[in-house]
Amino acid sequence: MLYCTHLGTRQLHNAESDIMTITLLQGKRIVLGVTGSIACYKSADLASKLTQAGALVDVILTESAQQFVTSLTFRSVTGRPVYTDMWSHEQHVQHIGLGESADLLIISPATAHTIAKLAHGLADNLLTVTALAARCPVLVAPAMDGGMFQHPAVQANLMLLEQRGVTLAGPAEGRMASGLVGPGRLLETPELIGMIRLALGRDGLLSGKRVLVTTGPTQEPFDPVRYITNRSSGKQGVALAQAALDLGAHVTVIAGPIAEPIPVGAAHVPVQTAMEMHDAVLGRLAAADVLVKVAAVADFRPAIYSEQKIKKTKLSAEAPSIQLARNLDILAAVHTWRAATGKALTVLGFAAETEDVINHGRDKMSRKGMDFIAINDVSAANAGFQSADNQVILLGPDGLQVTIPLQSKAKVAEQIMAHLAAYLNSS
Ligand code: PMT
Repeated sequence: MLYCTHLGTRQLHNAESDIMTITLLQGKRIVLGVTGSIACYKSADLASKLTQAGALVDVILTESAQQFVTSLTFRSVTGRPVYTDMWSHEQHVQHIGLGESADLLIISPATAHTIAKLAHGLADNLLTVTALAARCPVLVAPAMDGGMFQHPAVQANLMLLEQRGVTLAGPAEGRMASGLVGPGRLLETPELIGMIRLALGRDGLLSGKRVLVTTGPTQEPFDPVRYITNRSSGKQGVALAQAALDLGAHVTVIAGPIAEPIPVGAAHVPVQTAMEMHDAVLGRLAAADVLVKVAAVADFRPAIYSEQKIKKTKLSAEAPSIQLARNLDILAAVHTWRAATGKALTVLGFAAETEDVINHGRDKMSRKGMDFIAINDVSAANAGFQSADNQVILLGPDGLQVTIPLQSKAKVAEQIMAHLAAYLNSS
């Protein structure tokens, strides 16, 4: 099977991409080829979201795509001309130029027919001509009904395309227009944008680097239905994972229980407790170049775990109390591991502080052996836990001290990653 099995159900999308500009996409020239499938309507959403994110989207509609959607739809959402096969001889060179000047070509949806033409180098319409002229990354997002995707001819064509460096985006499994269930559904817009980001970022400043990010809260249970936790949503850590992906890093996210979707392209290691996070981090250090520790790890856990739900009657009989035991400090364990192995690992930790933040942050940075610390004044309004925005003071090597003012967690993450990348590329 060629469809993207690495896209698990939790790796569906980056919520940020729905609403805001994406630095990686700013000013990027993306050619979106649309071929004749019922899934065409989804491409209008893709064109719209890419445009909102800052990309310059040139759409090419095949003749059969125009049976489902019109040029006007795409012109309206991109604010740019839309290309069809009605091009004149004089414009021919300009149209070839579309492929040559593009940063990325995505064909979505791609029918079995167009896939066959691409695989065999046929160039009988503007889209296939453009694909042959393209010198940029090419993504093909198949969409086809009725078990066509599994046909050996389609599979062989897709394999040919992959061997030539084309990236296949999907398809997803699920219910198709005919009512049949199976592989053949076009990926959703956020997943496609995630794959576009991966393709555009792959030669970035962190290309070849392996970045481990921890995020979210931990939950420390004291019976099967109750636990101690904190208010971390995982948003800031997920944003850092996405920023690292945008710079071309291989990213693994070790996450406590969070609702935030893991970015497309990142490996996901779900954990619940601080001890599980400790083991997950320590077990992956040897294969990491950078550790970014955003998780709000519980310092304490209930000392006793009851296998059965603790009865209310029992709790109310006497004043209930939960005895706590200290959790291992993960960063301290990483510090010890680094000293013992001598491995070159760059560590960036976050610190949630409420007073005298720089002095407390600096102290934490040296005690826990971090190279960088992002100090989060969690008493500030609209920042820190759960909020969409954040502000931090970043301390680092050679006396680095930068204030990153209040803005979206995605933008904060990009600036932190830019400092990390500059440091890694200079050392
Ligand atoms: O998840 P969000 O809702 O987006 O919120 C983001 C955030 C506020 C959680 C994040 O920006 C943040 O500040 N994270 C650090 C929270 C924290 O636990 O701070 P701390 O000062 O208690 O710990 C300092 C460092 O030690 C952290 O990197 C933490 O991961 C680490 N630690 C803490 C305890 C422990 N047992 N082991 C650790 O490694």
